Amino acid sequence: MHKKQHPRSAVARQTEGITLDHAAPVYDLLAPIMTLGLERRFHRMVIRQLALRGDEQVLDIGCGTGTLTRDIAAALSDKTNSCCTGLDAAEKMIAAARKKAAGIRNIQFDAAIAERLPYADRTFDAAVSTFFFHHIHFELKKKVLAETARVLKPGGRMMIVDVDIPTSLFGTLCARSGHWLFQQNEIAENIEGRLRDAMDKSSFSWRAVSHHSGYITVFELNKEESL
Ligand SMILES: C[S@@+](CC[C@H](N)C(=O)[O-])C[C@H]1O[C@@H](n2cnc3c(N)ncnc32)[C@H](O)[C@@H]1O
Repeated sequence: MHKKQHPRSAVARQTEGITLDHAAPVYDLLAPIMTLGLERRFHRMVIRQLALRGDEQVLDIGCGTGTLTRDIAAALSDKTNSCCTGLDAAEKMIAAARKKAAGIRNIQFDAAIAERLPYADRTFDAAVSTFFFHHIHFELKKKVLAETARVLKPGGRMMIVDVDIPTSLFGTLCARSGHWLFQQNEIAENIEGRLRDAMDKSSFSWRAVSHHSGYITVFELNKEESL
């Protein structure tokens, strides 16, 4: 069966990832529902785990409308040249994120694809990504992890929150219905543990920090000091 494609902006057309230009106007209404009300809790967990010093450069990959990007910018000091950069391939998401963040000094948004990050090597102290990796297939998962490792400074860290191997009946139902509803093979890959496989194949060391609702895992990845 031929899958209907939503309209995609020019940047979004450069990736095989599932991009969400069409969802930008309603995304902030849907995100809390899709995360079973846990969206802000995940953001707080990610920020706590990052243990920010306040003067750092942070990258939010697949940032959507930039809610977490804003929370991170707020956790950084606006008296230094710290910055949280949000990146998404959907230009309409980036337009919505810029509008929401108007007036915030230490934030910026870029419309670009995560498998070809438009930043120099060793630019960022930390990177985050929430509910992005189930939008890209296995080969892109590996590419994005390699790109993230490239733009992180030695010793840099990354937090990922995403669909993972279900560990309960409830988790299996949620994860499988997401797969069925969106007909998104990339979700099935995460359910089968392919995000973990991609992390195993990356240069990062990684661990699962916590697991939620039986199908969502918070991961921490670390880049070696010598790389
Ligand atoms: C489910 S949303 C997550 C947004 C946000 N991080 C959150 O937690 O609400 C996934 C985002 O990934 C973006 N995306 C998909 N493929 C991409 C790619 N190759 N490069 C950059 N962004 C991509 C989509 O446009 C979408 O905004």
